[in-house]
Amino acid sequence: MGKKCIWVDEAWDKSLRKTLRNTARIGARFPHASKGGVYELASPEWWTAGFWPGMLWQLYGASGREELKALAEECELAMDAVLDGFVRLDHDLGFMWTLTSVANYKLTGNETSRIRAMKAANYLAGRFNLKGRYIRAWNPWHEGERNEGVAIIDCCMNMPLLFWASRTSGDPRYAQIAEEHMNTVLQHFIRPDGSVYHIIQFNPETGEMLEPLGGQGYGPESAWSRGSAWAIYGLTLAYHHTGKAEYLTAAQRTATFFLSRLPEDQVPAWDFRAPQELRSLRDSSAGACAASGLLLLAQMTGGEDGDFYRTRGEQMLKSLYERYGAWDDPEEEGLLLHGTSNYPQGTNIDVPLIYGDFYFVEGLARLKGYGPFYWE
Ligand code: GLY
Repeated sequence: MGKKCIWVDEAWDKSLRKTLRNTARIGARFPHASKGGVYELASPEWWTAGFWPGMLWQLYGASGREELKALAEECELAMDAVLDGFVRLDHDLGFMWTLTSVANYKLTGNETSRIRAMKAANYLAGRFNLKGRYIRAWNPWHEGERNEGVAIIDCCMNMPLLFWASRTSGDPRYAQIAEEHMNTVLQHFIRPDGSVYHIIQFNPETGEMLEPLGGQGYGPESAWSRGSAWAIYGLTLAYHHTGKAEYLTAAQRTATFFLSRLPEDQVPAWDFRAPQELRSLRDSSAGACAASGLLLLAQMTGGEDGDFYRTRGEQMLKSLYERYGAWDDPEEEGLLLHGTSNYPQGTNIDVPLIYGDFYFVEGLARLKGYGPFYWE
């Protein structure tokens, strides 16, 4: 066994052990950010609800530990009230039900899960704006807010639910909507240098693109690293599902930008264009998500490009394991330290984030050759 395999095996074993330990306290609930070593629990309505069960499914798929499967199933059931309640659902239906019901269906063939995921896909497709060719992101956050015209880069990762729905049902409508949304991403979200906008405001009546808005990055013209990670991975998945070369080209452009901005330790600043004094603050979740996406991009490209993306994705995961892991701290539930959720709002800064942990485990599963991967 080469050196490389040793660190991957160690990282996998430690992730499995820590997650098994965490199940005792977290159970079938919904962790988001770890504070003082303890994961705070979020509502099952929050966009992060799928990541804990998704990680349990990923670890179950490879280890066969039944207790992980049982908890993932319980989480999925607990989310039914959100799906049936409808009013709190937004575009993150994709993140939420891909990592729960699609995962369950792929691993066990559970028909009830397939139907749940189809309901989620139908609600997601229903958010498509015909004139602007985008999926509406959010619902009003407060009384009177109008955000029918808002689309965000994160939604790239919600599109796999629509591609899956077309495959499982034989009805091309879902994939057609996903492609239209991704075409809008190509047209309006990706800058010439391969960086991306977080939020674009459209006129929801005419579909006209109005302006980029500041979001979780430093400003409208900055380069929020998790946004870049969503784009790299989401565009690669769009190529995987459609075979259309323009998505692959765009994935490579966003990857080139991201990789060229990494510091020496290979883990991105929370925003590549934040003022220098703020760039020491990292986002390990962006690193983990981009790394897993790069490993898929490596598979999609093959050849020399494939070797390059695989090497870079592997280097990022290795650095996360060696320099950002909380392996030796029994008082810390998070797997990865130093995630940044929302700097402009001042929330969950420099903490473990459940989606960082999820993508780290998923990236390791790719290196170990374990599947399936639920977005695919
Ligand atoms: N999708 C929200 C975020 O990336 O924080």
